[in-house]
Amino acid sequence: MKIIISESREEFNGTAADIVRRQIHDKPDSVLGLATGSTPLGLYNLLVCMGIKGDLDFSRIKTFNLDEYKGLSRDHPQSYYHYMYENLFSKINIRDENVNILNGEKADSYRECAEYEKRIKASGGIDLQVLGIGHNGHIGFNEPGTPFDSITDLIDLTDRTIEANSRFFDSPHQVPRQALSMGIKTIMQARNIILLITGGAKARIAAKALRGSITPDVPASVLQLHPFVTVILDKESAAYL
Ligand code: GLP
Repeated sequence: MKIIISESREEFNGTAADIVRRQIHDKPDSVLGLATGSTPLGLYNLLVCMGIKGDLDFSRIKTFNLDEYKGLSRDHPQSYYHYMYENLFSKINIRDENVNILNGEKADSYRECAEYEKRIKASGGIDLQVLGIGHNGHIGFNEPGTPFDSITDLIDLTDRTIEANSRFFDSPHQVPRQALSMGIKTIMQARNIILLITGGAKARIAAKALRGSITPDVPASVLQLHPFVTVILDKESAAYL
């Protein structure tokens, strides 16, 4: 596990963007796994800038998003589908048919998850997975206690996650109680992973995940077992490392 502690937000975003840029440069038809949340927004901004300048061509990449809320329509402002188009896909030259995002509106979520898993395999697997981390250590929406061999599935969100994510909704009651998420095994099958962590509120969970024991109680701790993980932190989130 390679750990990089950034001195500034510019350096943080630049380090992450450089890894993604190199991946696409080395393999123009790369399969990327993408995360939502506030943490990767700076990375996505930089990728948009690289695309506009003509420094990066997204026309052959494929993407698979980590997760999606159950029951939100794709045009709901808090759906991850909406987030990805708003912050990245509508601003780069990716092809719509190469974008894969779990559909939270499908009546049969289990089938949707099984098909997603098959689609990832059929694409040749994820070359580079971008991850954030929840305050309880979740990756994707894999909450504490999720077995390490889990695959893409319908997940019950914990009260802590619902509360943390309620900042994006008008009230906690509007936050969906379930989500579809890539499993921990699905994430671990990615060939390379970058984990992005910012802010003092994540300092304790960052130390637990990166330095603590490897346990399903802290889902992100599984990443210690992956051979090619780069963790990028700011100074605040690295305070207890
Ligand atoms: C959500 C997403 C995660 C993300 C996490 C952290 O729960 N499902 O994939 O990593 O939030 O979000 P933020 O970056 O806003 O702290």
